[in-house]
Amino acid sequence: MKLRTLVIGLAAATFSLAAFAQQPIVIKFSHVVANDTPKGKGADFFKQKAEELTKGKVKIEVYANSTLYKDKEEMEALQLGAVQMLAPSLAKFAPLGVKEFEVFDLPYMFDNYDQLHKVTNGDIGKSLLKKLEAKGILGLSYWDNGLKVMSANKPLKEPADFRGLKMRIQSSNVLDAQMRSLGALPQKMAFSEVYQALQTGVVDGTENPPSNLYTQKMHEVQKFVTLSDHGYLGYAVIVNKKFWEGLPGDVRKQLEDAMEQATRYANQIAKVENDQALDAVKKSGKSEIITLTADQKKAWKKSMVKVHEQMADRIGKDLIQSIYKETGFDPAKL
Ligand code: LMR
Repeated sequence: MKLRTLVIGLAAATFSLAAFAQQPIVIKFSHVVANDTPKGKGADFFKQKAEELTKGKVKIEVYANSTLYKDKEEMEALQLGAVQMLAPSLAKFAPLGVKEFEVFDLPYMFDNYDQLHKVTNGDIGKSLLKKLEAKGILGLSYWDNGLKVMSANKPLKEPADFRGLKMRIQSSNVLDAQMRSLGALPQKMAFSEVYQALQTGVVDGTENPPSNLYTQKMHEVQKFVTLSDHGYLGYAVIVNKKFWEGLPGDVRKQLEDAMEQATRYANQIAKVENDQALDAVKKSGKSEIITLTADQKKAWKKSMVKVHEQMADRIGKDLIQSIYKETGFDPAKL
């Protein structure tokens, strides 16, 4: 009788061990935007590739549209290990104490994706990601969104048009200074709250690339959208460092491969997604699209570029200069 109990016990233990061994590793990937955006599509692509390459050993759970966490909470959750992967906008690293990332928020710093990629794909991009490690975070790649537009319920053509407007921004001191340089009153706010804040008049306007504006339906509550291309919005895909380094080596390698493919894909579709979103805003007829004249754009640049100087001590003069060198930007030439 005793032997039988022992055999049954052993068999049950073996069975549960085997069942345990077959449990997939779950990676929760949380983000704040819609699925139908460059970041949303990149995350879904990564899920598909990662599950395929790891042959089901890893299950990726993507939570879009702030369904799991809002901006600030998601970063805390990653550090605590409650979520394993995020792709926050680069602006969102400054509140962690890594202020250098605000360099990407400087107005008119980048004219196009090529200039940007010289920085993100080069030594500067790598050394910035390295700074996250002290926060328990590993940066895997940079994903693009695009250049931002400005929206409001009045036409924004000249810097003076911003005077007194409450403009929603991300939690970045550079973006705060940027809005003040136009005479606006910046309001830091979580992304998930922007639509309602615009709808109810808590804020008057905002900035984002067209893909975010359109998929959050912000154009339905903003009468005018100015094609200002005044700043860049992009992301770093990050993971909890301890979790990532604790993965079996072969699995980690497969996930790195999946991330490389997802990065290529996300960065390939970013421009097209934004162009299509802008077309959709135009077709909706809900917002009037404003194209600035060369003189108007010059006036915007002149007002906003002083932010580079103002924020140099905070971000690092050398870092700003090294990016100017990569991109050829010269504030004196504006
Ligand atoms: C925002 O808060 O405006 C953006 O960071 C949202 C996003 O992740 O694209």
